[in-house]
Amino acid sequence: MALHMTVEISRDSAESLTSQIQVFIRDEVEAGILQPGTRLPSSRQLAEDLSVSRSVVVEAYGQLVAEGYLEAVQGSGTRVVRHLPQQPVVPLLLDEDVAPAVRWDLRAGGNNTPAFPRTEWLTAYQRTLRTAEPGGTGYPPLAGEGALRVELSRHLGRLRGVRADAQHLMVTGGFAQALGLLCAVLPGLGIDALALEDPGHPGQRHFVRENGLRPVPVPVDEEGLVVDALAATGARAVLVTPAHQFPTGVTLSAARREALAQWAHDVDGWVIEDDYDGALWYERGPRPLALQRLAPERVVYAGTASKILGPGLRLGWLAAPEALLHPLLRVRARRDLGSESFTQLACAELLRSGLFDRHLRRLTELSAGRREALDEAVARHLPGATVLGAAAGLHAYVRLPRHVDEAALVAGALRRNVLVRGGAGFHTRPSRDAPALVVGHAHLPRSGVLEAMREVGLCYTRRAG
Ligand SMILES: Cc1ncc(COP(=O)(O)O)c(C=O)c1O
Repeated sequence: MALHMTVEISRDSAESLTSQIQVFIRDEVEAGILQPGTRLPSSRQLAEDLSVSRSVVVEAYGQLVAEGYLEAVQGSGTRVVRHLPQQPVVPLLLDEDVAPAVRWDLRAGGNNTPAFPRTEWLTAYQRTLRTAEPGGTGYPPLAGEGALRVELSRHLGRLRGVRADAQHLMVTGGFAQALGLLCAVLPGLGIDALALEDPGHPGQRHFVRENGLRPVPVPVDEEGLVVDALAATGARAVLVTPAHQFPTGVTLSAARREALAQWAHDVDGWVIEDDYDGALWYERGPRPLALQRLAPERVVYAGTASKILGPGLRLGWLAAPEALLHPLLRVRARRDLGSESFTQLACAELLRSGLFDRHLRRLTELSAGRREALDEAVARHLPGATVLGAAAGLHAYVRLPRHVDEAALVAGALRRNVLVRGGAGFHTRPSRDAPALVVGHAHLPRSGVLEAMREVGLCYTRRAG
């Protein structure tokens, strides 16, 4: 294998070439730049690339093997050793990622996603590569590939009733990037605070603050965001999850939708509609349409592939009012040069061919089965608890009776090999709300939901005092 490696040497140096190569590679290994397990070019190849004699490289490699930095592996050349003695440990992982290994992981979110439709994706991706224009690996359009925006405008119109043509859509790296871009644009419109649902996504609160806006909590009740409370905050922008509130699962009522659209007009404000799982609906009765259709000039609609395909794709989209679209593109142009083309084109092909809808239908059926199992398990093992909100998405909010000690239940469940989050972490003022569990079920079989909840039920205890 003709591997490439850059090694700095100087022919003017008094130091021998062997020593220079040896010291350079050793420093790179110690600095962690040459990573454990990295394969190096053969001595013949490196000698040729550096225009030095082969014996110079053979000797340098030999010294580094003797010192324990490199190892010679039978049949596959030389590589950096996998375990350097006394390497510094750099904590790169976020708290969310260092969760204990358990039998049942019921966290909602990135660690808990459905099976990716590999066959469909492969078909779409292969077709994309076969039919790509010769210039297909050039920079993508900043707003996203035209083919994807056209397919999305059709899909979102059909499924979610979104009012947007392809020109008003922008492809993003998931909802996270969309929110980051919006946080950068809003101050230019005189906005320094973003109202957020409470309870809501704890990560989003931090994200918004980190991105320069002041998060303002607004309560949620059985009808969704309390719009009167929003109006009382004085904020002029709000982030909502109207179809299936995160995490409670309630759907924003028709009256609140009207009130929210009216509020946006009245305060010259903006609504960010996070439709993170709006495509996945299995509640009996009609699926709620997007809020954006009520006030497309005031509502930014944002969707994501994270729940239907997987967060690893980092693919999302937003439909923005004219007044925001150009500022968004300006910010984007300063931050990156667009989303990766082939993923976008494969997604367009998935939508065009109907494979996306077929996958969605299958996912919906599976999710409905799991929710049924959850309802059944809650009724059987958690007496007095109720599953709140619409049957939709990949998680459910289980409201517990007031006497249940949420923290003890979560800790007890963990001892029984079930990792589940309590409702407290999703609230800014946990003490005022009833105890709850937020149950992510995306990756479990139906039987897994039943078994995991039975384990949780065994820890169902009364709050002391
Ligand atoms: C409330 C909410 N919004 C959005 C997302 C999706 O974010 P992204 O598209 O960046 O993966 C999630 C994912 O878990 C979520 O829980």
